[in-house]
Amino acid sequence: MEIASGSGQHAAHFAAHLPGWTWQPSDATAESFASVAAWRALAGAGQVRDPVLLDVLAPVWPTQGPPFAEPFDALYCANMLHISPGATCAALMRGAAKHLTPKGLLITYGPYLERDVPTSPGNLAFDESLRLRNPDWGLRALEDVASQALLVGFLLHKRLQMPANNLLLVFGRKA
Ligand SMILES: C[S@@+](CC[C@H](N)C(=O)[O-])C[C@H]1O[C@@H](n2cnc3c(N)ncnc32)[C@H](O)[C@@H]1O
Repeated sequence: MEIASGSGQHAAHFAAHLPGWTWQPSDATAESFASVAAWRALAGAGQVRDPVLLDVLAPVWPTQGPPFAEPFDALYCANMLHISPGATCAALMRGAAKHLTPKGLLITYGPYLERDVPTSPGNLAFDESLRLRNPDWGLRALEDVASQALLVGFLLHKRLQMPANNLLLVFGRKA
């Protein structure tokens, strides 16, 4: 299950490399749904489902259409937390707790601030530009994201350094 799929490039790439997985794209708006379909066709990734409307802030997921019939093995969310209001972080965690299997993983990707790690000049400038566009946007502190996860019983299992000062964070249930 992918939150905030945007163009659908990630969906197409992952699905093409993970043929055993079914991929459910989603986004808060339908603006890029045609793009998701185009990337799916280009990658020949037939196991990418049609995208669904899903605003993480909505009380019920998905926002439109029938509720999800089954829990998901993984929830993947790239580049949303810093380009949306801070409340999306808690909402993402609540949704993960509700829609993941007991061993399911929440995987987030993007730039973060970290207490004991100097922020790169590029990420500092990016943070500033985001806040200028919208005062509710901006890079989130990894520690705050992990605290929100803890509130729903999820622990940060892995922090993987990615290119261009991005991180891949893997959260799973405590027990
Ligand atoms: C920068 S794009 C990232 C797209 C894609 N994940 C990527 O990494 O290329 C941010 C996406 O977050 C989506 N988004 C913003 N607020 C959201 C919300 N409350 N719920 C779900 N998606 C949201 C936007 O519609 C947009 O597609």
